Amino acid sequence: MSIKTIVSIVGARPQFIKSAPVSRALASEFREVLIHTGQHYDYGMSDIFFSEMEMRPPDFNLGIGGGSHGEQTGKMLIGLEKFFNEAKPDCVLVYGDTNSTLAGALAAAKAQIPLAHVEAGLRSYNRAMPEELNRVLTDHVSTLLFCPTDVAVENLVKEGITKGVHRVGDVMYDALLHNLEVARKKSQIQKKLDLKKGRYALATVHRAANTDDKERMQSILSALRQLSSRVVFPVHPRTRKMMQEWGVSASSNVSMIEPVGYFDMLALQENSNCILTDSGGVQKEAYLAGVRCITLREETEWVETVAAGWNRLAGVDEKLIVDLFENWFPKSERAPLYGDGHSAKQICEILSNSLK
Ligand code: UD1
Ligand code: UDP
Repeated sequence: MSIKTIVSIVGARPQFIKSAPVSRALASEFREVLIHTGQHYDYGMSDIFFSEMEMRPPDFNLGIGGGSHGEQTGKMLIGLEKFFNEAKPDCVLVYGDTNSTLAGALAAAKAQIPLAHVEAGLRSYNRAMPEELNRVLTDHVSTLLFCPTDVAVENLVKEGITKGVHRVGDVMYDALLHNLEVARKKSQIQKKLDLKKGRYALATVHRAANTDDKERMQSILSALRQLSSRVVFPVHPRTRKMMQEWGVSASSNVSMIEPVGYFDMLALQENSNCILTDSGGVQKEAYLAGVRCITLREETEWVETVAAGWNRLAGVDEKLIVDLFENWFPKSERAPLYGDGHSAKQICEILSNSLK
């Protein structure tokens, strides 16, 4: 039996983290070719994750970089189509909901290559979000759909997608379990920033709906100013750029720092008193770390964290954000919502059976 070739597409920060456990699982059975689209390119947004998680460097980097949605996705499509035609892989694997995901999905579907989507079935039901369009379109051309949660499976059923759907848990939980102990040993961020456990909040903001709207960005910064706590804010390059453009800045209780690596982020999360974020991955990691999360969006695709009582949607409502921070403390236990930490192994087994 010949070894099958899987081409995995990554490009943005969360995709490096998601792909690490899957690549490790695939290594025993498949030939994996890892393509980095180059969507994220700063050392702190890309290379640091490969080096911390001891991942094999990408086999190819398309070097696409930033740009408008059409420009970025279009350039990726051109590069990926060419690559697929030459490499003729047995399967293409995409992750999450970025423009790299959509480009990989479209290029694979048009080349009639079986497509597998990790983190399928997530929905915010807000089509103004570029990520929502990317997810819906990717799911509808996927052959295998790896869902992290029961809700994700139900979302697909509502859209008539039932074939090839597998509830496997969340590979981000695999990644977290694999890296947490090392992160605890290696991260120096607490010392560097002189942080005490439970004495600071952690904030991240990068959604276009927030960064690209001056009033929303101002509301978030104003809410952070009113918190009775120090706030550590690793700033995404998009956010830094837009804050400069809008001429807005953070108050003195907020430590704006460069984006941090995964180890520092895990350490910052688990020792914080509250996480305020518009990130998808960070909402989940807050739940997994048992830290309350105030989500700076009006809706979320990770609805089970809200139902479980550990995540509250505050949008950019200053009063609500401050009120939740000062007065809301979840009491509930945390059920295992995201699988057993062996999602990547399940994905590998399903791929193995499907590609026979
Ligand atoms: C992208 C994803 C988003 C995901 C996020 C993870 C899309 C549509 N969006 O958003 O779903 O949550 O990644 O972080 O795919 N930049 C740099 N250096 C970098 C990367 C970005 O300076 O290494 C700046 C550039 O000015 C770039 C801007 O950030 O134009 C936006 O980057 P882009 O990858 O287009 O979108 P993100 O906001 O990062
Ligand atoms: N993350 C990180 N450093 C940071 C911010 C986030 O390592 O400065 C990690 C975080 O722990 C999570 C992932 O990046 O694993 C989330 O990515 P991001 O917030 O960029 O995107 P999203 O999940 O919203 O798509």
